[in-house]
Amino acid sequence: MADLTGFTNAGDRLELSWSDGRRDTVFAIWLRDNSPNPDARHANGQKLFDITDIDDDVMIDHVANGGGMVEIRFSPDGHEARYDIDWLRRHAAPHHATHPRRLWGAELAETMPVFRYGDVAGSDDAKRAWLSAISELGFALLKETPCEPETVCRVAELFGYVRETNYGRFFEVRTEPDPINLAYTPMGLSCHTDNPYRDPVPGLQLLHCLVADNDGGESVVVDGFKAAAILRDEAPGDFDLLTRHAVPFRFASNDADLVARARLISLDDKGEVAEVHFNNRSIGTFDLPADLMPAFYRAYRRFAAVLQRPALEVGFKAGPGDLFIVDNQRVLHGRRTVSGSGRRHLQGCYADKDSLQSTLRVLERAQP
Ligand code: FE2
Repeated sequence: MADLTGFTNAGDRLELSWSDGRRDTVFAIWLRDNSPNPDARHANGQKLFDITDIDDDVMIDHVANGGGMVEIRFSPDGHEARYDIDWLRRHAAPHHATHPRRLWGAELAETMPVFRYGDVAGSDDAKRAWLSAISELGFALLKETPCEPETVCRVAELFGYVRETNYGRFFEVRTEPDPINLAYTPMGLSCHTDNPYRDPVPGLQLLHCLVADNDGGESVVVDGFKAAAILRDEAPGDFDLLTRHAVPFRFASNDADLVARARLISLDDKGEVAEVHFNNRSIGTFDLPADLMPAFYRAYRRFAAVLQRPALEVGFKAGPGDLFIVDNQRVLHGRRTVSGSGRRHLQGCYADKDSLQSTLRVLERAQP
């Protein structure tokens, strides 16, 4: 890490110079707000004051640099705080603290992110690698998962908590005589994200194969972020429309009537793709202004066509003991038509992404 080679106190701000030539400006209000002094911050890391407790005209009264720490006295309250120089270096410039992501297409089939249940359940290193792959790719496959009912919930509990819904704590995916959802028929399902009619949308879906004596029924996954990047490149106007206008999604059964509006592509505050929602079965009746409707349909159809490109599809036949996880706000999943008379039985459940990311950060803390 670079050394702090100089500083200038301008009263309301501090100019920092680093040994690699980088220069940063940090403000008195920002420094005071981030004071690590035990009067300002509990040993557990939580703040002990309100932002309104800081004086309107807070200034840097005095600065000293030594021993890897910068010591600052503020006026007018006389508060004193010592800042670790490495902490200043890490936080003085804008940065994105998100886990890296890697976009993928059909080529992922050559290097499938495959892990073994026994490893991830028994070793923190293996668990970290597994969660890191899900975070980076939005998809990973777990092999040799015990073929006992409800194991899918126990796998979710390896990193977080099961997200219960109207489908229950977990749900059965097999052919039913009077299905409330087309997932419970032999029909092929085009690639989709689950439950866009829910608010908030489940962040992760887990699907565990218990029986696969059938023909067909192969699983397909598609990286929605990759598809969005292609659309942005090939048709930026269409991409823009899908990021600006939300459409309704709905699921109705005897005991549920779930309705939510979602954008097919959502951006974060940096303009990066943050979420993709796409579900041909549950998308509702568009209620856009008439002057937008033709252009929006053109964009919607173009995005759907990108998502259906074979160059983006990764297909695999899940066998007994296979369990795959998708980031349900990024990776679409589908299945080819189930044929023949053999049985096919999967169990699924939902979980939230924040718990996965939290467990991953805790495991990364322990790394040398
Ligand atoms: Fe699904």
